[in-house]
Amino acid sequence: MKRRMTYVIIILLFCLTGCTVQQNTEMDTTSKSIVIGFSQSGTESSWRKRHTESIRTELEKEGYEVIYRNGYMNQERQIQDIRSFIVYQVDAIVFTPLQEEGWDAILEEAAQADIPVFVVDRHVSVTDPSLFLTHIGPSFKAEGNRAGLYVSNYFREQSNKTINVLELTGLNDTSPTQLRSEGFRETIQRDLANNHVTIQIQDAISGDFIRRKGKEAIETYIKEGKMDTINVLFSHNDEMTIGALEALEDTDIIPGKDLIIVTIDAQKEMIDNLKKGIVNCVVECNPEAGVFVKNAINRYLERGADAIPKEIYVHETVFSSDMDFSQIPPRNY
Ligand code: AHR
Repeated sequence: MKRRMTYVIIILLFCLTGCTVQQNTEMDTTSKSIVIGFSQSGTESSWRKRHTESIRTELEKEGYEVIYRNGYMNQERQIQDIRSFIVYQVDAIVFTPLQEEGWDAILEEAAQADIPVFVVDRHVSVTDPSLFLTHIGPSFKAEGNRAGLYVSNYFREQSNKTINVLELTGLNDTSPTQLRSEGFRETIQRDLANNHVTIQIQDAISGDFIRRKGKEAIETYIKEGKMDTINVLFSHNDEMTIGALEALEDTDIIPGKDLIIVTIDAQKEMIDNLKKGIVNCVVECNPEAGVFVKNAINRYLERGADAIPKEIYVHETVFSSDMDFSQIPPRNY
């Protein structure tokens, strides 16, 4: 009897150990971490910082290992960062390009290493579009359309007047700059065609999406004596708008009244300015790209490249002086 008990215990122990070994083997395969190389273009705005945070947090929550690199607004540096991901043999590259041109060679290297590339936020212009899997980001053109629509509606009663717009543009050779301009122009030209108010772009000056440069550009414009004829400032991002507001402090111009201000991004500081009546319209550019990036990567890993659309848009809205401010969701950037 005693001998039989010992035998049963040995069998049980063997079984338990066997089971444990099998479980561990399974865990090893499933927990093999997927490594994502994430190259961000810079940290030029609160918007950009939130964009980075959103992507890193969502990917890490999902259990992916993220290797993050900041390009500090330098394309060469970003190219080196992507090359280091290729050498490391990451499973996927998430990449927010500083500018549109100049990526063919490095994306070719990624393709040769069989690493899928997810382009986020700004677009790339490459000769072979199969060099990246998808683009995930805002519709910059729709943002420009929304900005134009606000201006058009604001002046709709003044059909005999000409409204002069000063456009403060972002960095050249970037899709937000090109498409926001295009969208804005498209909308105000419709007014011309319909014999409504005449809205014209008096000048377009660049501030590279940077607060200091936005301030300098407006200061120069004021010094040149050109600001007095301007009715509307259309600024391509909030950071430059903050710079422009600083420059306007030295003038008699009252922002939000003498000068209608339309700005893009919807950082917390700008929503506060909207509530105070200092700016008139804030077009949202949604930095919360993380969940879209995570979903696209998951889908790619589960179902392959064919299951991924070439363009994935994030949702966005508009906040303006005529709305109920209590409807504005809390900002976290
Ligand atoms: O590419 C998106 C733009 O880049 C955002 O509007 C701006 O804030 C950032 O610098």
